[in-house]
Amino acid sequence: MKMGITVGVPKETGAGETRVAATPDSVKRLAKCGFQVCIEEGAGLSAGFHDEDYDAAGATIVSSQEIWNTHLIAKVAPPTPTESASMHSGAMIVSLLEPFRNGQLLEKFAKERVDALALEAIPRTSRAQSMDVLSSQAGIAGYRAVIEAAHHYGRFFPMMMTSAGSAKATKVTVLGAGVAGLQAIATARKLGATVEAYDVRPEVREQIQSLGAKFIDVQLEESGSGQGGYAKELSEDAKKRLQAALDERLSKSDIIITTANVPGRKAPILVTEDVVRNMKRGSVIVDMATPSGGNCTLSQADQVVDINGVKIVGHTNYPAMMATDASSFFARNVVSLLDLFVAKRDSGDATFVVNLEDEIIESSLLVHQGILRMKRS
Ligand code: NAI
Repeated sequence: MKMGITVGVPKETGAGETRVAATPDSVKRLAKCGFQVCIEEGAGLSAGFHDEDYDAAGATIVSSQEIWNTHLIAKVAPPTPTESASMHSGAMIVSLLEPFRNGQLLEKFAKERVDALALEAIPRTSRAQSMDVLSSQAGIAGYRAVIEAAHHYGRFFPMMMTSAGSAKATKVTVLGAGVAGLQAIATARKLGATVEAYDVRPEVREQIQSLGAKFIDVQLEESGSGQGGYAKELSEDAKKRLQAALDERLSKSDIIITTANVPGRKAPILVTEDVVRNMKRGSVIVDMATPSGGNCTLSQADQVVDINGVKIVGHTNYPAMMATDASSFFARNVVSLLDLFVAKRDSGDATFVVNLEDEIIESSLLVHQGILRMKRS
């Protein structure tokens, strides 16, 4: 079954980006859906996938120029100006596009009649779960953040009693219990730490507790739950109340992992300089919100800073630090998404159809046939 649509997978060019949007396994799955697949030479190497494996799976290996001539580009990170200039009218790009920051890129795509599907704009619904790269990548990030914390922390996570002495269980505090935060809680618990966690959305209390962590109860007198299951920005009053309630607990933590984000806004400040200065030497803060400005005032992007013996880890791309699994999950999400575009598969006459009545396509296809469809809030 062939539809005459070729999916092109370029090598990612962003600094530190090791992931790739297709794997040999996803190439086979795309072929079953009716797509042909071209992979740029060496595109999967940094994630552990070799050209010969893609070739054996049925993909065609092409040069960095040829890849941009394909009908449908599947990518991980938003395209650079050079990459977007290489796309031709009538093509489609499926990628993380950071639409809140990349208005100009989307306008350019509209002008040049390149369809653009932003993976971030896929709705967070049960039906869309298999296509949700934000979730698949955030889960990996939450896990990797704990491994990173353990790496920088000079002590055991579990309580240890040995003939050479004993060690207390490490106290981990997780701020923000969305996908990444919940995975961080689960991972820290599996390593044997004592964990407590806080989120402005009170509905996550039970999820935190079901992972064996303690929910930090803060009386905010307003709900932090916003639209679509996301958080909303708190009032100045509530921010002060939250700070007062958290500061002392945070200062006593051995490890803090922060994941708090409000879509389209700068990340809320939750760990102040005072808290850092009051923490014990040897403690570690992993600020997963660094890409959106940081939950800790002292975090620096892609650096580990040391403030009086407290390490603050500011990596901005945890999934890229686990490129093999991150790419496998990402690629499976892309297959599930592209499968939505295949119509009439049973008749043996499969066709590529953009059905804007499908709510997943409707929400995520931000540019279609020269029209910028993004809803601005
Ligand atoms: P996110 O990355 O936007 O934010 C992370 C967490 O930070 C959120 O839980 C948020 O409530 C919290 N936060 C924001 N401000 C805070 C503050 N001042 N203090 C403490 N915490 C703060 O969130 P993520 O992980 O993308 O999840 C967003 C929502 O989407 C959640 O409701 C999640 O359950 C839902 N979701 C639904 C899915 C589905 O049904 N298919 C799949 C994945 C997520």
